[in-house]
Amino acid sequence: MPLRLTVIGTGYLGAVHAACMADLGFEVLGVDRDQSRVEALARGEAPFFEPGLNELLARTGATGRLRFTTSLEEAAEFGDVHFICVGTPQLPGSHAADLGQVYATIDALGPLLTRPCLVVGKSTVPVGTAVTIAEKLVHVAPAGAGVELAWNPEFLREGFAIEDTVHPDRLVIGVQAGSAEATLREVYAALLSDGVPIVVTDYATAELVKVSANAFLATKISFINAMAEVCEASGADVTVLAQAIGYDERIGHRFLRAGLGFGGGCLPKDIRAFMARADELGAGDAVAFLNEVDAINLRRRARTVDMARELCGGSLQGVTAACLGAAFKPNSDDVRDSPALSVAAALQEEGATVRVYDPKAMGPAARQFPDLLYAESVDEALAAADVVLLLTEWDEFAQLTPERAGALVTQRRIVDGRNVLNPAQWRDGGFAFRALGRP
Ligand code: UGA
Repeated sequence: MPLRLTVIGTGYLGAVHAACMADLGFEVLGVDRDQSRVEALARGEAPFFEPGLNELLARTGATGRLRFTTSLEEAAEFGDVHFICVGTPQLPGSHAADLGQVYATIDALGPLLTRPCLVVGKSTVPVGTAVTIAEKLVHVAPAGAGVELAWNPEFLREGFAIEDTVHPDRLVIGVQAGSAEATLREVYAALLSDGVPIVVTDYATAELVKVSANAFLATKISFINAMAEVCEASGADVTVLAQAIGYDERIGHRFLRAGLGFGGGCLPKDIRAFMARADELGAGDAVAFLNEVDAINLRRRARTVDMARELCGGSLQGVTAACLGAAFKPNSDDVRDSPALSVAAALQEEGATVRVYDPKAMGPAARQFPDLLYAESVDEALAAADVVLLLTEWDEFAQLTPERAGALVTQRRIVDGRNVLNPAQWRDGGFAFRALGRP
């Protein structure tokens, strides 16, 4: 009998994981407490924009292998392997991760586990969480020691989530003695036969791999953004600098795009939770540099607002600003900790009338910042603007020309927050042009 899988929590991670596992041929039951989300997923509608996901949900749903439910009882009955994919957001008023959803899931699922099975944590958690959960499960599950736990962090990027799930750079599994490794090798057999490397380790290392990978990526982005600050002070050009240092293969070009910095549901909260956890462990000094990584990142938002203000003669009061972009990155409708929206809100705070346009994230943006104005198109956002800010590097914005924009705006001023426009072209087009880290 092939293994039957459940995926508990159908946010970004869970919805994608469930669909991909069903596509690999497993019978999969997705579980979420949100009834309307479960119904939408069953219709093949993801609760967020992810390229290819609706098609994959519809295709796997039609085979009968992928179903969704709100019932943990049904899940416990059905599954040989239960993937825990619930969220671990930042706790309000603290840097630490909120593990409420993880523990609520374990508390609810554990007592229902009457037969041997494997519980697999995929959520991003502070190091030390898995061992606590493993002890809990043995106590509360009727199947006792028949219930094993593995930790299997996920490294998918939004916008490439399906590709990253089925062709990951590596698989990481944290296990204790038992059959968990063999079971997960069976689940991921197709990936392993494609040559995907697998790292089998203990819980603590597996948990740390995830947060240290995100800490490294955040540090790389903040490194180049720190260089951008020095470039601004010295008249150098950070885009050329990044190109030049990136040719050194030890450095590489990826994640070296200077601009408005990182946001989203992962990098910002993960580095903060890492600092909080390291502090608890008495290792706070080791990751204190992440405070700087965070601070550099947030300074880029403030600097973008400064540039807009400077272009407008020292005040944003009464200025009409066109903000191109709301999502934290292109090809996503995710506005969690979005640098673009935080800039838009700051402009408004200083008295500007702000019109935001984003190709995909208008709904989520309007829910988070209902007081901003939203345009239906780029042209509508640009109409009669006194200053334009490019805040998310959607292709549509990168392809904008000074001729088209110039015909719509009142004042030819633009801030490129993502370093995707050609400064010479815009200056030749009569625009006062500013960009982060460029002369
Ligand atoms: C990130 C990691 O890249 C994934 O490996 C990880 O699995 C995921 O978090 C997670 O923990 O779930 P994601 O949040 O989808 O993925 O976004 P990224 O593509 O990493 O981009 C993060 C932010 O950094 C975006 O705001 C992006 O605009 C910014 N960024 C990225 C830069 O400012 N410069 C760069 O060179 C690269």
